[in-house]
Amino acid sequence: MIEFQDVSYGYGGSPLLSEMSLTLSQGSFHFLTGPSGAGKSTFLKLCYGELLPVTGRIEYFGVERAGMARDDVARLRRRIGVVHQDCQFLDHLPVAENVALPLAVAGREADRGELDELLAWVGLSARAGALPSALSGGERQRAALARAVIMSPDMLLADEPTGNLDWDMSLRLLTLLVELNRMGKTIVVATHDLNLIRAAKPQVSARVLRIKDRKVQLAGAEL
Ligand SMILES: Nc1ncnc2c1ncn2[C@@H]1O[C@H](COP(=O)(O)OP(=O)(O)O)[C@@H](O)[C@H]1O
Ligand SMILES: [Mg+2]
Repeated sequence: MIEFQDVSYGYGGSPLLSEMSLTLSQGSFHFLTGPSGAGKSTFLKLCYGELLPVTGRIEYFGVERAGMARDDVARLRRRIGVVHQDCQFLDHLPVAENVALPLAVAGREADRGELDELLAWVGLSARAGALPSALSGGERQRAALARAVIMSPDMLLADEPTGNLDWDMSLRLLTLLVELNRMGKTIVVATHDLNLIRAAKPQVSARVLRIKDRKVQLAGAEL
């Protein structure tokens, strides 16, 4: 589904990630771990085509990014949902409208039933009319997750989704990600929380990618 072939990336000429060759296959669940500044967010940006590799090639669903026209990139973005590290919302719009925003951007009307179902799934039915500023950290993350999946993407990338959450809320978010994976979606979760990875183990057969020495390596089973 996404294939890296000897990819390297760096900002402004200084290398950050190099010699990456890996495949994120359909239906897989990967954690991406590594210390702060290692390049986790950068790797995810390569995964959704926000950044282009400096060398090497990345294929998305069999097509190389470099050969894509703007329409193709737009289509690609719809197939890959992203929960950003700082889940930005439009602060003057209520939660339900923020969640439905990707539909509005694509010129589609939100199906009220589907939207309600999605909000119920993330446990935000009662908060649908609230403004983002009134949400707790956990509610914000769940709203961001709902927004990321409203276009029914094949793949979901989450950047430190439990970064500011307490443990119970982290587990709740993890459960939602596992449910999405069971529905067949490919999941990549960047996190430096090894406890979260351990907690996932009994629920899902996840692989762990670790960034070390500028390389993304498949970690062993010791986690
Ligand atoms: N837009 C950018 N321009 C220049 N340097 C950047 C940019 N984004 C990130 N970096 C640098 O790249 C490195 C990796 O960043 P990042 O991918 O955010 O790491 P992580 O998510 O693992 O904390 C850091 O040293 C960061 O300062
Ligand atoms: Mg980051």
